[in-house]
Amino acid sequence: MDGTRPDCAIEQDWQAYSAEEHAIWRFLFERQQRLLKDRACREYLDGLQALGVASGGIPDFRRLSDILERATGWRIVAVPGLVPDDIFFAHLAARRFPSTCFIRRRDQLDYLQEPDIFHDICGHVPLLMNPAFADYMQAYGQGGLKALGLGHLPHLARLYWYTVEFGLIETADGLRIYGSGILSSAGESVYALDDPRPRRLRFDLRRVMRTRYRIDDFQEIYFVIGSFEELFAATRPDFAPIYRELAALPDLEPDALLPEDRVLPPTPKAHKRRHKKIGPQPSAAQV
Ligand code: PHE
Ligand code: FE
Repeated sequence: MDGTRPDCAIEQDWQAYSAEEHAIWRFLFERQQRLLKDRACREYLDGLQALGVASGGIPDFRRLSDILERATGWRIVAVPGLVPDDIFFAHLAARRFPSTCFIRRRDQLDYLQEPDIFHDICGHVPLLMNPAFADYMQAYGQGGLKALGLGHLPHLARLYWYTVEFGLIETADGLRIYGSGILSSAGESVYALDDPRPRRLRFDLRRVMRTRYRIDDFQEIYFVIGSFEELFAATRPDFAPIYRELAALPDLEPDALLPEDRVLPPTPKAHKRRHKKIGPQPSAAQV
């Protein structure tokens, strides 16, 4: 591609954003703030606040990178869109997060299949302020390079999808969101926690790696971790023998249910969540 470097990095060119593009950012940011303050996990909300990402408008990557680098050694590099897998993993392994710079159009406010700057910056970057999660992402990059070499990328990609993009976490206050694909979607931030349709299954590494996923609609399965420590412990072992084991097993459909799956009930905490915001308590039947 013209003008791009071998690592696909480009300039963000912050000055070039139009007033309309900043307005779209503000709209998306404010809408998610309202939805996420009682739905996102604590680590995400803390990271967002420490970064100073706000409703002012599209942030400048240089400013964000300076804050991020001081906290966890990560930086943001601007890229034109999805980049080849090997380049993506090499960035993560070097603690560089590849972020798109374009923002969705007004007719795409509710759903966009590809990542844009709102998804990348508001969805992914806040958790990179968390030291443990920052290490997980780097380890994932290294694991990605390894999986590529072994020919098992589809298995590893599902782990990314069902954790980094669409993961839920169980907390003392009930289920919370940490997956960036959910965090950047107004519809899915409500659906993932409150809707009775999707299944919420206890995270199990092999189960996750066998499960195909859909990229064109809300998920039919979410995997729930008990803590980030649990996720890191499950992903620390060498995956090479696990890949060999999985190669002999069939893939699972995005809505599959196995007898050994541990299904979590839909979160009744939705009541608590909403009531907290309103002064006098409305009756539970309204929710
Ligand atoms: N342990 C994995 C491997 O050996 C690497 C990895 C770490 C993958 C963390 C994802 C997340 O391939
Ligand atoms: Fe993403």
